[in-house]
Amino acid sequence: MALLPPRLFLDSADPADWEQWLPLGVFHGVTTNPLLLDRAGQDCTLANLARLGGRAFDLGAREIHLQVWGDDEDALVTCGRELVGLAPQVAVKVPATDTGLRAARRLLAEEVGVTVTAVYNAGQVLAAAALGVLYAAPYLGRIDDLGRDGTAEVIAMHELLRSTENPTRLLVASLRDWDKVVELAWEGLDTFTISPAVAAAMLDDPDTDDAADAFEEAARRRGG
Ligand code: G3P
Repeated sequence: MALLPPRLFLDSADPADWEQWLPLGVFHGVTTNPLLLDRAGQDCTLANLARLGGRAFDLGAREIHLQVWGDDEDALVTCGRELVGLAPQVAVKVPATDTGLRAARRLLAEEVGVTVTAVYNAGQVLAAAALGVLYAAPYLGRIDDLGRDGTAEVIAMHELLRSTENPTRLLVASLRDWDKVVELAWEGLDTFTISPAVAAAMLDDPDTDDAADAFEEAARRRGG
């Protein structure tokens, strides 16, 4: 049985999305990567990430995930050091490539919190857990896109971590439907990053709005 509340992240590098969703207090933080920065028209530079990070923390993020970039292992390590230098609550994302894992190992030795991302198979989860990272992030929707059963594979990854009692959290990413989040939560998964579109589908319900309007009308009828 889960002893901790679920941990939700907003998968967006767009401060307009953060302004909309972070004040709800539902999200533990935000996850970003260079593609999301590109989509949001944001520069992938340390200076801009410092500015963006400040904004996310002001809006209530408790943790932000920023991804390294660079041509080789040394560049990834240097970038990771710079990213965590922005704030201790930065989790440094590295892709689950050979180079990424080598960089992760060196960052972990410096006590940097690491997220291994772009995970496509359970072996990579095992590797990330063996390294001792904070999070391993499987891309569920993209695994589905490959014609595989992303949900079943992600549940198997979760069971793998649970059976080894490993503290690495499975941070499920590339989620396209909110009911998938609920389905996975039902299976005991508790850490998800969702796009603003999935957040809207999950949290905006017109029936709830109608119910809230009816409460207000009743309050007004009775002198409120
Ligand atoms: O965080 C993972 C994410 O950015 C990839 O999602 O929807 O492009 O597969 P998607």
